[in-house]
Amino acid sequence: MCGIVGYIGKRQASPILLDGLSRLEYRGYDSAGIALLNGSATVNIIKRAGRIDNLRAAVAEVSHQGATGIAHTRWATHGAPTDENAHPHRDQSGKLVLVHNGVIENYQTLRDQLTAKGHSFESQTDTEVLAHLVGTYFDASDETDGPTRLRSAVQAALGKVKGTYGIAVLHGDVPGVIVGARLGSPLVVGLGEGEHYLASDVSAIVAHTRDVVYLNDHDIVSLSNDRFDVASMAGGAAQVKVSRVEFSADDAEKGDFPHYMLKEIYEQPQSLRNAMRGRLSRDEGTAILGGLNMTPQELRGIDRIILSGCGTAFHAAMVGEYVIETLARIPTEVEIASEFRYRNVPADKNTLQFVLSQSGETIDTLAALREARRKGIRCLGIVNSVGSTIARESDGGCYIHAGPEIGVAATKTFTSTVTMVTLLGMLFGRIHHLSSADGLEMIDELEAIPDKITSILKQADKIKAIAEKHANAEGMLFMGRQANYPVAMEGALKMKEISYIYASGHPSAELKHGIIALVKPDMPSVFIAPDDAVFDKNVSNIEEVLARKGPVIAVTTEGRTELERLTKDVIYVPDCPSYLSPLLTVIPLQLFSYYTAVARGCDVDKPRNLAKSVTVE
Ligand code: G6P
Repeated sequence: MCGIVGYIGKRQASPILLDGLSRLEYRGYDSAGIALLNGSATVNIIKRAGRIDNLRAAVAEVSHQGATGIAHTRWATHGAPTDENAHPHRDQSGKLVLVHNGVIENYQTLRDQLTAKGHSFESQTDTEVLAHLVGTYFDASDETDGPTRLRSAVQAALGKVKGTYGIAVLHGDVPGVIVGARLGSPLVVGLGEGEHYLASDVSAIVAHTRDVVYLNDHDIVSLSNDRFDVASMAGGAAQVKVSRVEFSADDAEKGDFPHYMLKEIYEQPQSLRNAMRGRLSRDEGTAILGGLNMTPQELRGIDRIILSGCGTAFHAAMVGEYVIETLARIPTEVEIASEFRYRNVPADKNTLQFVLSQSGETIDTLAALREARRKGIRCLGIVNSVGSTIARESDGGCYIHAGPEIGVAATKTFTSTVTMVTLLGMLFGRIHHLSSADGLEMIDELEAIPDKITSILKQADKIKAIAEKHANAEGMLFMGRQANYPVAMEGALKMKEISYIYASGHPSAELKHGIIALVKPDMPSVFIAPDDAVFDKNVSNIEEVLARKGPVIAVTTEGRTELERLTKDVIYVPDCPSYLSPLLTVIPLQLFSYYTAVARGCDVDKPRNLAKSVTVE
């Protein structure tokens, strides 16, 4: 949500910043801006409402030079997406310039205080208030050394702020320095030769450097061409560790695919292999998850599991509840992360919590992690983004290794997260009652999943035709039972997110308890009805919908051709044990929502109002 990129070095900053913004556009894209400093006291700002291309065109029309700059792509929280509200923002003197991710909660009080002192504001944003506040401390400072003065002003102003921030700051009187700071909103420093980068997300800078330092909450950093200095505003020494980014800029490219989402759907056979690599032991017939940082004795003592996440990660957690209870018989509870933090969930020393997050930065999920740890609950992360805040603050956990996911609608990270909770189920199951033969059978079934996904992807043309047939539907219902109930919710979420068709996911049996009132000819129902213990029950529900003239699209198991008697729109997935079924049944739903959105002319990778990573409450 919102993206920041900064550069200081010897090269022209604007192409680097614009390229970085394009790579961050998936985080927020309602307006964007850039500030360049070329050694004179003037900081030039260009900003535009709309996509990065609007900004790029505006930058091409002027010839501002500068080897120092900061830039921002915005997802509006305070103030509409207009040129004025776009970042960067200036202070009262016009010389200090700031970009910001996060929310300043007490901005109205600060704004009133500054207005009373004669400040005037050009925007409705909390960020402009912060810029003015830093400016007042800079102007009042008696430090002679410019960089120290700017850094002290940033630190003093942040001491007055309630809320969250990742910021980058420039000042016309202090050429050759960028100051950054974070609390609750990620920032990473990129290390180059005679140059440095600052970004909210490594994907913005990975084309230039793969050596990075992830900042921690309360860190403040000063960057110049040849050095970076990190300190902790909370007191004590800052933890500075240089990390190597595993993926390259090419991994975050679309390649020959028209959209990132489609590319990421097709990556799933490989991303699932990556999630399992090195984690399945045929010798022991179990999963090896060293990152949990727990001994077999400690794992054996766990008698309750809590899984938390938001959006797609929440749906993966719901699958996790089913899989862990089925395989390990450990009572498992799923809590939406934003609810968990405000509930007082009972837990004791034998409770283990997992937070699930693609980005590792979702503020509600991070807050759930912090609340759990505050209560002394051991809390582990299942995360995609390496070095993210959740990964660093949790007591341990597992990376899903899905690689960069740029499409706002999560696809490959859903299946990789489900794979990871399945490995957890296997691990706990083996500790309790499953035999090594059971474990080996599960390993065989898991290892067969990637090829089965490949075979589903081969039906893309058929799924596209079904999507085009229903693309003008007024709404859609998604139905599934057991582990496919969360898949129904995930299918509905994908449909809403990218095609803007209202959709909802339900347990199939709930149909008759209200939902059936919605059934009509332009309200198709998608049934996930694999060949399992409740197949016949699903068929009865399909009949109920058809009897009320509701169109039905069915996802079922190869061989269950009898559904073709009921509807022409049948999509087949290969057979597998029912606890693995979500890994297959979700694939047609991802393609279905994708092709529906394309048929409706929607911007698949950048759906309106959404952001890939939501770092505000
Ligand atoms: C946002 C995204 C969703 C995502 C959710 C959780 O709402 O639009 O696609 O599922 O955040 O994100 P996380 O990074 O924590 O998995």
